[in-house]
Amino acid sequence: MIPYSRQSINLFDVLSVSKQLAFKSLTQGSKIEEFEAKVAEYVGAQYAVAVSSATAGLHLAVLALELPAKSEVITSPISFVASSNAILYSSHQPKFIDVERETINIDLNLVNQEVESNKNIRAIIPVHFAGLPCDMEKLARLRASKGIKIVEDAAHALGASYPNGKKVGSCEYSEMTVFSFHPVKSITTGEGGMITTNSYDLYKKLLRLRSHGINKLNDSFESSLLSTTSGLLNPWYYEMQELGFNYRLTEIQAALGVSQLSRLDSFIKKRKSRVAWYLRKLSVLPSVTPVQSNSSSLSAHHIFPIRVNYSQLDIPRARLMTSLRERGITTQVHYIPIPLHPHYQKLGFGVEKLPEAMSYYHEALTIPLYPSLRKSQQSKVIIELSNLIGASQEK
Ligand SMILES: Cc1ncc(COP(=O)(O)O)c(C=O)c1O
Repeated sequence: MIPYSRQSINLFDVLSVSKQLAFKSLTQGSKIEEFEAKVAEYVGAQYAVAVSSATAGLHLAVLALELPAKSEVITSPISFVASSNAILYSSHQPKFIDVERETINIDLNLVNQEVESNKNIRAIIPVHFAGLPCDMEKLARLRASKGIKIVEDAAHALGASYPNGKKVGSCEYSEMTVFSFHPVKSITTGEGGMITTNSYDLYKKLLRLRSHGINKLNDSFESSLLSTTSGLLNPWYYEMQELGFNYRLTEIQAALGVSQLSRLDSFIKKRKSRVAWYLRKLSVLPSVTPVQSNSSSLSAHHIFPIRVNYSQLDIPRARLMTSLRERGITTQVHYIPIPLHPHYQKLGFGVEKLPEAMSYYHEALTIPLYPSLRKSQQSKVIIELSNLIGASQEK
């Protein structure tokens, strides 16, 4: 079976994890710090905080912004539910803004209009869909002129770059950036995530929130009565200063992360060459259009979504996907627009103002892409797709 995505694990990864497991600490040790320092250096940010998932990272990032109660936060409807769930966790209100047709990233002209007309918008979580960065320079103008905070959901985009050459995660245009290390992402730690920032205050707050809200770094103690005895510091003393969580990554996961990170650039290179090959082959397939084909040089190529114009074909998407599966190829749809999920429907969200998101959703199909995908497998994908689509056109 050719999956739509898969992790690349080699012997070095296995050895790094085994060494950590056999001889070193399992949690809260120096491997996490090494992983954080290496990710920060790679993306060009001052600080990085490892967390148990990008979902946890987004939750902490929104909390760390300390927005006024019931603020509205803009995000994309074409994303995994985690992007907007982070807003709900913090009792704020997601505001879904439609995507642009060319990139399936949030439409910044519509974002501008919303911010001009809605004073309750306090933050934006742009999603770098499929690994292609949003136009952050344009977004950053809103940050400067309206004081709006930005948290980049870069779950798909470790290894991607902005047009100025800097890496996503450098936080040149945002308060914080959040990455995911779930197995189908650029690199994996099994489950895991990382928040990067250039703000020391946010860094400290994120460290605290990741670990129960307990004091970190040079936080001074609030209680001098409990923290000292006759002027001497109590060596056992720690202090929970706010309500935090246990969102820590383990040292075993960090060992895998460090090992994987050393191959990130080669993973991205392999993804790029496979995308270039698909783009050449797909140009002759009827009723199929690649998504994001014009700006793909900046992308981390997390997934390879295409649009299939099913209205021109006799084969509905469910049958196409099932038939591809019968032929050994797994495909997926990224994503069901978030406001369509029953939980969001029950909260009163709808898709009336999201025509591009809905049009994309009706046509979307993610075909296999991952670093170890072989040319013969890519050929099989194109041949089977073209057979099924061709057969349906002949009817
Ligand atoms: C855009 C986006 N944001 C956030 C997440 C959450 O990532 P994690 O699985 O690490 O919690 C995902 C996961 O797929 C995602 O696709």
